[in-house]
Amino acid sequence: MNPSQDVVGEIRRLFDQRGGSMYGGESVTQLEHALQAASLAENAAASSATISAALLHDIGHLLHDLDDDAPDKGVDDVHEVLANEWLIKYFPREVTEPVRLHVAAKRYLCTVESEYYDQLSEPSQVSFKLQGGALADEEVKEFEQHDLFEQIVQVRRYDDEAKIVDLATPDLEHFLQHVAECVSCAERAEG
Ligand SMILES: [Fe+2]
Repeated sequence: MNPSQDVVGEIRRLFDQRGGSMYGGESVTQLEHALQAASLAENAAASSATISAALLHDIGHLLHDLDDDAPDKGVDDVHEVLANEWLIKYFPREVTEPVRLHVAAKRYLCTVESEYYDQLSEPSQVSFKLQGGALADEEVKEFEQHDLFEQIVQVRRYDDEAKIVDLATPDLEHFLQHVAECVSCAERAEG
């Protein structure tokens, strides 16, 4: 079996085994949240890398054993760090950077758009404080200089919108095609 089949199989297994758990304090499951985020990216004609990043941005929540309500207990699960450490073995940075920085992107948007914080869901507002709160001016500038800034912010906006109860989306297999494409792309670049 080649690495791209391996990792796609592992992602399928993670969502099958753990995707039914609720997404923090939201009213959708981890799988529904991931599918809705990927769907928003696909509907916006985003690249396979951005669609994959949207699908996988919260995979860190499936890689640890903390309870869903960890933020309510004052615990930051650093899921974006866990996700990045795992994904970076298989994916190009066009996938891993929007995942690694999706929490930073929330902090960025809360800092530069006054209405952004108000429209976040309550669990997202709770975790915002745990994750460090607003960025300093220097951090804002540094964030805006990232070469994938647009994609990073876009994935964050898909994340925020992907919390609609009972929304119909394509299934996981549909989006895993984009994931497989990104893995084989990374393999070709290395090879
Ligand atoms: Fe999310």
